[in-house]
Amino acid sequence: MIEEMMKKIEAVRDEAMKEVAFVSDAGSAEKWRVKYLGRKGAVPALLTEMGSLEAAERPVIGRQINDLKVVLTDEIERCIGSFAKMGQESAIARERIDITLPGRVIIPGNRHPIRQTMDYVVDIFTGMGFSVFEGPEIESDYYNFEALNVPKDHPARDMQDTFYVDGDSLLRTHTSPVQIHVMESHRPPVFMIAPGAVYRRDSDVSHSPMFYQVEGLMVDEHITFKDLKGVLTTFCRKVFGEKHGVRFRPSFFPFTEPSAEVDISCVMCGGTGCRVCKMSGWMEILGCGMVDPEVFKAVKYDPKKLTGFAFGVGIDRVAMLLYGINDIRLFYENDLRFLEQF
Ligand code: DAH
Repeated sequence: MIEEMMKKIEAVRDEAMKEVAFVSDAGSAEKWRVKYLGRKGAVPALLTEMGSLEAAERPVIGRQINDLKVVLTDEIERCIGSFAKMGQESAIARERIDITLPGRVIIPGNRHPIRQTMDYVVDIFTGMGFSVFEGPEIESDYYNFEALNVPKDHPARDMQDTFYVDGDSLLRTHTSPVQIHVMESHRPPVFMIAPGAVYRRDSDVSHSPMFYQVEGLMVDEHITFKDLKGVLTTFCRKVFGEKHGVRFRPSFFPFTEPSAEVDISCVMCGGTGCRVCKMSGWMEILGCGMVDPEVFKAVKYDPKKLTGFAFGVGIDRVAMLLYGINDIRLFYENDLRFLEQF
């Protein structure tokens, strides 16, 4: 009887050891463990068979079965441990990083010089209490011209100067129409600026078919030319520095009366006269004036009660002066060698 049991134990051991060679992953390891060591497995089955042994034989066989259990448990654990190690090793091999490779150079982007200038100008005006508004780049004749008191026969309305989209629509030629939109939708007082792109049929060293302006408008009771001069002189000094000369020169715009243009002393020559300022020593950077009563009438503001001033700053012009650039087209050619310098 005892020999028979010993043979059975041997057979279970042999079979288990043979099969463990085919265990190749966690799933097959678990199947193997259930088959031999599980509650209904081959090893517990041997234990139940011990009932038929003589009392004296039982401890001997019991020890044999326990030894087998220990051996098989060790075997399967060793097996599982080796998968984990293999998995780790292959993961390490897969994820190996060659730290001797040179790094990739990351070129940081930077803001376009026009955008930098625009942000700078907008900051100065918001710092003085102006709110920022935007308007559409495709406008109707009414907002771009009519409401701004630009007469029907004004040369700016010519196909030569304005890009027409179709019939009544056009690409705005200035940011002034935003004044009209804002006054139509807001009661006075209005302290606004409107930055944005504008379009004109024009292209040479100092003109680009698309360029940028910041419009400004200040309307309330008792606004005077003195306020205009104060705000715009402060603006020029902030942009170009305290030492820069600023002058107001009489001019004409249909939407302001009286009108002026503001010049600053030439940043290239400091005012002595050079090619860039055409020997005048001055460079124009903005147009301005007291809002024409006709414009107030168009937006149903009462011209007897209200006064105001308006201005339009050419941002490209300011950028050219700030950075000492003599050809506006450089801003729009997207040549990184140029743009990287800012
Ligand atoms: N819109 C004018 C232009 O594009 C600039 C300008 C002049 C705007 C006088 C104004 C202004 O608001 O009062 O040339």
